[in-house]
Amino acid sequence: MAENETLGLLSTKQLQVPRVQEMYKLAERLTAGEKFSEFVEPDTIPSADYRQRIERILMRLGLIESFGGPYFFNMIQHAPSPGAAEALAHIAAEEIGHGRMLLECLDPLGVEYRSAAREQYVATAEARKEALKLSDPGLNGPKSWEDVLAVTLLVDPAGILLVGARTMSQYGPLARVSAETLIEERDHAAYWEIWGKEILASDEGRASLQRSVDKVYPGAMGSLGRPEAGNTEFIIEREMGIWTIDPAELQDILREMLEVTLPPLGLRIPDLEPDYRNAFW
Ligand SMILES: [Fe+2]
Ligand SMILES: [Fe+2]
Repeated sequence: MAENETLGLLSTKQLQVPRVQEMYKLAERLTAGEKFSEFVEPDTIPSADYRQRIERILMRLGLIESFGGPYFFNMIQHAPSPGAAEALAHIAAEEIGHGRMLLECLDPLGVEYRSAAREQYVATAEARKEALKLSDPGLNGPKSWEDVLAVTLLVDPAGILLVGARTMSQYGPLARVSAETLIEERDHAAYWEIWGKEILASDEGRASLQRSVDKVYPGAMGSLGRPEAGNTEFIIEREMGIWTIDPAELQDILREMLEVTLPPLGLRIPDLEPDYRNAFW
């Protein structure tokens, strides 16, 4: 999708929230090849504990992104037009790529990931639950076109923040791969606005989209992670510099982004608690 098609849209405006803009500026510096002296690289990993944590993180994130392939491909069954279907297939291909880039960061660490990746490509809810220890009953994905739009309206901006947080990591390979991913996520978060015009144009359409938004919101908010207090593993990894931004702050930024998109469309930001069952932290 050409960049100028998305200019001036609300999905573009949500990226102008200051913290999001900072993430994109950092991503552009990293993709331009800038090196940061504080980066930890595979040959400068400071401890066995650090190595274990970074291996677990790369594997888990790589598998989650890999599952995005079949997850988006399965949404094609709800697409109302060939163009909307093709755009979903395009996102699916990029998600497979995001997973591949993360998993390939395991190569210099000598960690094998191929069979685990293949399990994600199978894409059954059961396989994924087993491999990632997830509990969300909604793993089979959206059940309607409105659900597809709600996912790209809520889960994709949350994804931008999760990838943005990875871009701010001091583990060099994770930051660099995430920078490339973040640039591609721009178009993913614009999907609903380009292909959902018909739904957004009518009162009934907006009402049924609101029902999907209410359904998807708790999981999208919860995906950002439990606030730092009460999250011991996160605190340890933050002290190591693997993470540099707190999940509570990510939740605030997501709310700011949704203020930009939902109310101008005549949609409400749901007053619902985050669902942390599938949170990374
Ligand atoms: Fe992705
Ligand atoms: Fe994406």
